[in-house]
Amino acid sequence: MLLFGDLHEPCVFDTPNDRARFHDMQLLMETAVKTLKPDLCVLMGDTYTDGNRDPKGNIALITKPITDAGIPFAAVLGNHEHDQGTEDKIVEAYVSNPNCLCFNDDPEITGDMNFNLTIQASDSDKTAFNLWFIDSNNCCEDRSVSIYDWVHEDQIAWYERKANELKEQNGGKPVPAILFQHTPVYEERNAYRLAKPWELYPSVKGHGKRANKRYVGNECVTDGYVGEDPCAPEYNPGQFESWKKTGDVIGAFFGHDHLNDFTCVVDGITMGQCKTAGFRCFTDGARSCVRIVDIDERDLTKLETKVVHYKELGLKCTCLGPLLRNFNDKQYITFVTTAHIAAAAATAGAVALAIKKFKKK
Ligand SMILES: [Fe+2]
Ligand SMILES: [Fe+2]
Repeated sequence: MLLFGDLHEPCVFDTPNDRARFHDMQLLMETAVKTLKPDLCVLMGDTYTDGNRDPKGNIALITKPITDAGIPFAAVLGNHEHDQGTEDKIVEAYVSNPNCLCFNDDPEITGDMNFNLTIQASDSDKTAFNLWFIDSNNCCEDRSVSIYDWVHEDQIAWYERKANELKEQNGGKPVPAILFQHTPVYEERNAYRLAKPWELYPSVKGHGKRANKRYVGNECVTDGYVGEDPCAPEYNPGQFESWKKTGDVIGAFFGHDHLNDFTCVVDGITMGQCKTAGFRCFTDGARSCVRIVDIDERDLTKLETKVVHYKELGLKCTCLGPLLRNFNDKQYITFVTTAHIAAAAATAGAVALAIKKFKKK
């Protein structure tokens, strides 16, 4: 499976740079699909952000590198798809696309596109594996509770009901599954710890209620890069606990955090971030990437995953200047941090000088 995080593509081309950014993103998608040869592509939400109000045409345009290769795709909705107030049109655009496997399983529950896709065993008609696609909704109406909304209790109940049905059909054993969702689950914070005073460089500023502290990844992080604190909901609806109770989810993958591409293991469940695969939103240099997730029928209780960055595919982006084009994640963060420290030192020096002059008078 090949995952594309937060493309944020409005399909509006007013300037040459708009076209360059679209071209670079499509080149990444096209090259990744041809090189990595996935069986399924997954768009991780915040894919089509408000542009010219033609979701059907624009989603077809964005996914052209996938459909041209004849590969099926699925998608989850992000907060920016909900932002537009045209969820019905966006869902219709996905559902009616001949290459897209999306549907809305239960219109009665929260969210506009919750569904699952089962994978059959190669030697029987038995369900061997399952994929969950969960709508993590928009921002929270009450910002004092949380900036971002969460997966609601009725969605969790739907997941448990469906997972238990599959378990029953599987002789009482949970059908192993991977879950895709735009906004990270609350427990992704378990992969972070408070930064020590000397850990300024690798640390990231906390988000939301954690904003006055700095954090680094802890021993749960198994691979990749921690570029920001997770913008997960600040209210815990019990989604992660329900995965543990049901026992089917071996891995969960998220978008939303444009700078994070790490994987971590919390309570035996692998969680992986997909940073942006585009150039339309804030990111750190030419570090756009895609994530591969592989499962092997010989042992479906395990998964393998890694990210592949733009430059690793031999690509040279045209929309960024020479400096940003050549930075990697750590170089970019180091550059920004150093610039901030230098600016703070210069300000402190200027203030000290002014005080000195003032005293002389
Ligand atoms: Fe986003
Ligand atoms: Fe988002």
